[in-house]
Amino acid sequence: MPRDLLAEKTLQSMPTLEKAEDLSPAPMSLFRKPTLLEDRFKKLADLRPYSLLLNRDDADDCDWLEHAAFDANEAASREKIEYRLRTCGELCTGIFTSAYATCSGSVSSLVKARKFPSVDSMASDRKRILIGHIIATKSKSPIVTDDSMAFPSDWRTKYQLGPSTGHDEEGETVCLHSLCVHPDFHQRGLGGVLLRGWSQRIRDSGMAKRIALICRERLVGWYEKNGFKKVGPSKCQYGGGDWVDMVMDFESAGEYEDC
Ligand SMILES: CC(C)(COP(=O)(O)OP(=O)(O)OC[C@H]1O[C@@H](n2cnc3c(N)ncnc32)[C@H](O)[C@@H]1OP(=O)(O)O)[C@@H](O)C(=O)NCCC(=O)NCCS
Repeated sequence: MPRDLLAEKTLQSMPTLEKAEDLSPAPMSLFRKPTLLEDRFKKLADLRPYSLLLNRDDADDCDWLEHAAFDANEAASREKIEYRLRTCGELCTGIFTSAYATCSGSVSSLVKARKFPSVDSMASDRKRILIGHIIATKSKSPIVTDDSMAFPSDWRTKYQLGPSTGHDEEGETVCLHSLCVHPDFHQRGLGGVLLRGWSQRIRDSGMAKRIALICRERLVGWYEKNGFKKVGPSKCQYGGGDWVDMVMDFESAGEYEDC
């Protein structure tokens, strides 16, 4: 026979039920740092930037951007840019935005400043604006040298796979010679986005064992933040010298794993 709990007053003597403290872990966020993602989205929403490989048709735009971003003694010449884009455009990347000449906002003065090519679409008035680029070559040297920064004087008439200056197709080091963002768009994360995306592509495609570059001391921390290690003072005399060698070595521990 079942017990009469009410008659026994068992229920009244029991402690009242309380909601137990919830010890289960908080649901995992889809993104590790949602505020950073939100910040980046806001910073770049007006630009909607996108990346493309560069080729010789981009030489004029790269020349314009290079001279807008670098001091005159550091900027590569138009011919050097064209040499690099024609010889190894697959190592070079641009970051672009697009706009109509009638637009307002941060791109409006730029889109009117010069003749940009049309975006590849039905709207020929919509222009493709280069706002950042990376231009690189390959070298057999593990660090950037003055020879790797130069180019053969006869490059237009005599193609060489492994010349003593300029791009060496058999080199194992990708030398980053020029990374810049148009001054109107600095401090919005574009340089970092460009550099990290490009480095990842070079690394994962297996086209080199490392990336090397030279930079001014003030940018060492920025490159370190983006995966490079400081090697020490560079011997390069380009642009008056006083450069620092930086390297991202894909073979060093933990930096190259098969996925
Ligand atoms: C260098 C350059 C490409 C950076 O582009 P950018 O789009 O302005 O850079 P990002 O916005 O991605 O990075 C800026 C961030 O790095 C930080 N930063 C800048 N210098 C730094 C340093 N030395 N150490 C650590 N962080 C640094 C900034 O504080 C900023 O941080 P925040 O985003 O939290 O505010 C750009 O300044 C440029 O084109 N300069 C002229 C050409 C040049 O000198 N190129 C380098 C050749 S070696």
